[in-house]
Amino acid sequence: MTFLLDSGPRMRRDEFRLLRDLVNQRSGMFFDDSSFFVFERRLRERAKALGVGDFTSYYQHLRFHPRGAEEIEEAIDALVTNETYFFREEYQLRAFGEDILPRLHEQAARGNRKRLVIWSAGCSTGEEVYTLAILVLRSRLFDGWDVRVFGNDISKRVLGIARRGVYPRHSFRAMPPLYDEYFEPDPSQPGGSRRVVDRVRALCQFGHFNLLERERASILGRVDAIFCRNVLIYFDPTSRRGVIDSFYDRLQPGGYLMLGHSESLLNLSTAFELAHLASDMVYRRPVASHSLLPPRREGVR
Ligand SMILES: C[S@@+](CC[C@H](N)C(=O)[O-])C[C@H]1O[C@@H](n2cnc3c(N)ncnc32)[C@H](O)[C@@H]1O
Repeated sequence: MTFLLDSGPRMRRDEFRLLRDLVNQRSGMFFDDSSFFVFERRLRERAKALGVGDFTSYYQHLRFHPRGAEEIEEAIDALVTNETYFFREEYQLRAFGEDILPRLHEQAARGNRKRLVIWSAGCSTGEEVYTLAILVLRSRLFDGWDVRVFGNDISKRVLGIARRGVYPRHSFRAMPPLYDEYFEPDPSQPGGSRRVVDRVRALCQFGHFNLLERERASILGRVDAIFCRNVLIYFDPTSRRGVIDSFYDRLQPGGYLMLGHSESLLNLSTAFELAHLASDMVYRRPVASHSLLPPRREGVR
């Protein structure tokens, strides 16, 4: 029997530990020992692209080369999981459309505010951002309001796809036909690709920043709801805690945090309260609550 081995350098365990700690420090993502082979295979492509003969040289390039920072972005990009699709985790989106949006409308109207900001943190190729914008539009509650659905990601590559807004058939695998009207055929792409229509795109914005960079998120100002689904599961507990604290500070008092279905704030934060909705339980920043950040940093807008 013949085994086809990937060409390129092989990674030693000590090189794995150095590289995975660097990736962890820069992105929050943590690769445990069981991820060794995936980690090696994905970074081997980067080492080959750069023409370095072993992973010690690759590590040194990342740390000390004038273009090391650029290559760290490439390495992180090669390692991340970008899986996403329209209308992922339907029960949660139902809770958002039927329960959370009416509550946010009421809260904002009570404060005389005709502005709604939703943040999809770790948005990948953008399907989640457009899904949320469609639900806001469909609710009709915010017609004439200043509405913004913002998506960020650490990967410039996926943000390029998100901004383009054209998706292949498999991105629509969980989308009920009811939402077809928010997409139009894209004749430039074969195989049934569709483009998000302009009235949805007009509500959406994308930005390149790392969730570990707490200050960068302050460009969003206060947000009414945050979706951070299937992102923090890849992080180590300390990075996860830091990101959750920054979400708390970005949220309006009374604002909502939605995590993926297998994720919770257990052992991460006691600052949020649980809101029991008809079809889901979600986290909420209490209405009477103060910032976790010292006042000096809270002033950055
Ligand atoms: C599996 S996708 C989740 C997409 C979407 N939220 C969903 O649930 O369908 C995870 C995304 O998180 C992004 N990500 C990972 N670490 C990040 C960080 N430190 N800052 C910003 N984005 C990050 C990855 O690039 C990837 O696109």
